[in-house]
Amino acid sequence: MPATRRGAVAFLALAILLAALLGFGAPRADPLQVPIPLEGTRILPVLATRGMVVTEEKSATGIGVEILRQGGNAVDAAVAVSLALAVTLPKAGNLGGGGFMLIHLAAPEKTIAIDYRETAPAATTADVFLDAEGRAVAEKSRDTGLSVGVPGTVAGLALALRTYGSGKFGLSDLAAPAIALARAGILVEDDLADSLPKAATRLGHWPSSAKIFLNPDGTAPARGTRLVQDDLAAVLERIGSEGERGFYEGPVAEKIVAAVRAAGGRMTLDDMKSYAAIERVPVRGTYRGHEIVSMPPPSSGGVHVIELLNILEGFPPAKAGYAAADLHLLAEAMKLVYADRAAYLGDPDRVAVPVRGLGSKAYAAKLRKRISPTSVLPPAESRRLDPTPYESAETTHFSIVDGAGNAVSCTTTLNFSYGVGLVAEGTGILLNNELDDFAAAPGTPNAHGLTGGAANAPGPRHRPLSSMTPTMIFRDHALVLVTGSPGGARIITTVAQIILDVIDRGMNIAEATEAPRIHHQGRPEVLEVERGLSTDTIALLRALGHEVRVRGAWGSAQSITRMPGLLLGAADPRHRGTLAAGH
Ligand code: GLY
Repeated sequence: MPATRRGAVAFLALAILLAALLGFGAPRADPLQVPIPLEGTRILPVLATRGMVVTEEKSATGIGVEILRQGGNAVDAAVAVSLALAVTLPKAGNLGGGGFMLIHLAAPEKTIAIDYRETAPAATTADVFLDAEGRAVAEKSRDTGLSVGVPGTVAGLALALRTYGSGKFGLSDLAAPAIALARAGILVEDDLADSLPKAATRLGHWPSSAKIFLNPDGTAPARGTRLVQDDLAAVLERIGSEGERGFYEGPVAEKIVAAVRAAGGRMTLDDMKSYAAIERVPVRGTYRGHEIVSMPPPSSGGVHVIELLNILEGFPPAKAGYAAADLHLLAEAMKLVYADRAAYLGDPDRVAVPVRGLGSKAYAAKLRKRISPTSVLPPAESRRLDPTPYESAETTHFSIVDGAGNAVSCTTTLNFSYGVGLVAEGTGILLNNELDDFAAAPGTPNAHGLTGGAANAPGPRHRPLSSMTPTMIFRDHALVLVTGSPGGARIITTVAQIILDVIDRGMNIAEATEAPRIHHQGRPEVLEVERGLSTDTIALLRALGHEVRVRGAWGSAQSITRMPGLLLGAADPRHRGTLAAGH
């Protein structure tokens, strides 16, 4: 990069970072011109009139808002936020993973899905995760180089920016705040301080990771210490100046491939060079007069949120409060949907996924007939399957709406918290273990307890099935809700419940975000409920025949609702450091 350009980028980075750090995190005077229809509600969303960003990490939110303030559109802000999260939320924000970005353009009215899911290396075979007896070996798909998919994030962000960015910012401009943070160091606080100790053992397996993220004795750095990521800053600089080629070819690609192969994987330089993000047509459905637009396969999220809502549409709307009768119907519908997920969903470029059939009202009516209001569905033959063996759910979601009504709903992941835990030496890039999302063997649950079969088998350049569900809701063509969440298998049910709480129960988005969640995925035959649901309700659900397990919180929904002249944002309180902010 020429010296003058480098100086300008450094100045812009500093300006964005300073504005972001000074301006956000503290309450601001509200410049609202319109009446606020929220009186009497128990929890209030954050309000703004011109633009809103909601992420899991407060400095990333600040950077996104500053890009909007400087005239960037929602896509510009999304690219800056994604790159910032790769530095500030290393458990899930990433360069070494993948994701899905739903983009809505206000004019001309259009919604696009960008698929930057990781792909299996070309040398991947259907038996890659099996032992000599044909049994799935979990360690292979979770803890070794075989688990690492070719990362998609950089290609996805580059595609989104060149096609749908405002044109006012280049990749180097949008990478600049992330580079400044990586070089100056970030404080180990909030979710970083919460998540690092839990990941210390996994990170400690790899010296290249331990030297960045751990103390010399292998413990996690104390709250308040500074985490500097110089190698990551250098890679971000290269991406800024060379674009995606700076990642998929040359020294960065060489280091990634070397790290994966040294860890037992099969990735090649050709796999990296051949990676392409794909623009797809979103899936669409309706729910009580609203249009649902969401991520198509290789996500199962959009298809199954629509299927679930279609089943529920034939029942009366869920009432305020959480009546056991309503939760029972919801849980039964969830079981049916996850059974379809296991049977039909996979990479749409490899198998025919019956998207229209699964999303049709007629099919939902047939499924609805199987649900009884007074008893549970007969147990599947899988009753004796163990519950989810590994409960990581560390993906991240952010939502953005700009002043022109353009929006981004983006979910991105390394799969496990900090992915496979391996940093490719000399890059600062944490690598994913996304290939565990394949069905390693038919019927064997993955780390999220999800099963599958031939439709989601590992294979050369296949994309593993995902549950990530970036979603938007429209009413009479007007965007009214942008939402999504991490949560592994629980993503689909979390997003569906946000939608039900807003549409059926009339909650504002902060109430819907905070509300207790339930989850049933058929296998295991367990209805999970978050602590906070009334014990009376739980007793009624047990009386109906549910095996209820009360457990800690899950998900981290970051959402925005939109009404004329007003944006209402809610960051999920389940994680420290999340922030909704606007201008
Ligand atoms: N790795 C979690 C998902 O994509 O659903």
